[in-house]
This record gives sequence, structure tokens and C-alpha cells, in this order.
Amino acid sequence: MDELALYVLDITMNSVRAGATEITITIEETDDTILLVISDNGCGMTEAQLSKLSDPFFTTRTTRKVGLGIPFLKMLAEMTGGYVKVESVHESVSEEHGTTTTALFYKNHVDFIPVGNMTDTLVTLINGSPEINFTFIHKMPEGEVNFSSEEIRSILGKDISLAEPEVLAWIRGNIEDQYNEVDN
Ligand SMILES: Nc1ncnc2c1ncn2[C@@H]1O[C@H](COP(=O)(O)OP(=O)(O)O)[C@@H](O)[C@H]1O
Ligand SMILES: [Mg+2]
Repeated sequence: MDELALYVLDITMNSVRAGATEITITIEETDDTILLVISDNGCGMTEAQLSKLSDPFFTTRTTRKVGLGIPFLKMLAEMTGGYVKVESVHESVSEEHGTTTTALFYKNHVDFIPVGNMTDTLVTLINGSPEINFTFIHKMPEGEVNFSSEEIRSILGKDISLAEPEVLAWIRGNIEDQYNEVDN
């Protein structure tokens, strides 16, 4: 995988599988760093699960592993001089359960990979889980891109799925327009 956007898709799928109904993805770029924060209100992890996270063979999945998971995100971040931090509260501990994964990258380091196509990542996530409330904020030095499932739903009404082809196409166009505006 040579785009950060694919790692974002992979890590956000953890939140989807954890049963989250709210997922927030924020990317904050400066001229030399990228801070990625993915937070969810899913089932969370126990202390024991958390401590096993850097083991590439640890999984609670029963299907065959295809993604790279947290260990590879960690490797990528650390190669650039950054870090990955995972904070989690398991559902057995508190009603306020969920997980926050934070990654810092130094984007001018030779080992950094481009951010890539975040629009594709978001559209894939919304298409796969239209009922989840996704919030996306990408701040760049030149401007920012925002998306909110809730906002779209408040316009469309709750009977229309965000996975309807026309809706998805509109969402794609809207996010692309925002990125194009930042580029200009
Ligand atoms: N956001 C999350 N919420 C709950 N559990 C998580 C979350 N992220 C990771 N986990 C747990 O950590 C395990 C390892 O995650 P990961 O490294 O992405 O590999 P994989 O998703 O292939 O299992 C998952 O199987 C899951 O049990
Ligand atoms: Mg995973």
C-alpha cells in the first residue's frame, strides 16, 4: 500500500467492525507533519487486547486477514520519525466506550507515502456502511475539506440511504470540488 488513504480505510474498518455508529476521521497537515486521528464509539478494547496491538499476528477477526492493520501503520509512522498511539475504553468498563487511534507522520521524510485519494476512501466507507455517521475533516495549510453524514442526512431525510448511487455520486463530487478548491 503506497497511499496513506488506504491505511485510513484499513484502520477505519476496525471501527466499523467494532460496531461504531459514530466515526470521526481528522487529518491535520502542516508544512512538515500530518496528524491523523480516527475515533469511534465502538466496543473498544480490553487492556489485554490493547497490549497485544503491536503484534502483527494479533486479530480478533475470524475471516482471513487481508489488511495491514495497526502494526504496519505504526511501522510507516515510525519510519518517518512519527508515532502511533491507540487509546481505548472497552464496553465492559464504561458506557462511554470507544477507540481513538492517533498517528503522526513527518511528510518530508523520504519514507513518507503520499496521502493519496481520500475521496475514494470516504466513498468506499459510506457505501459499505451508509448508516454510520462519518465526520471527516482534512485541514491543510491552504484550506480544508469537510464531510458529515449527518449533514447530508438532514438535507435528504432519513429514508434515503447514503449508499444510493445518485447520493454517493453527489458526495463524491462535493468532496472532489472541495479538494480542487484547496488546490487552486
Ligand atoms: N477501533 C477498534 N475498536 C475495537 N477493536 C479494535 C479497533 N482497532 C483494532 N481493534 C482490535 O485489534 C485487533 C487488531 O487490529 P488490526 O491490527 O487492525 O488487525 P485486524 O483488523 O486485521 O485484526 C482487531 O482484530 C481488533 O480486535
Ligand atoms: Mg484492521
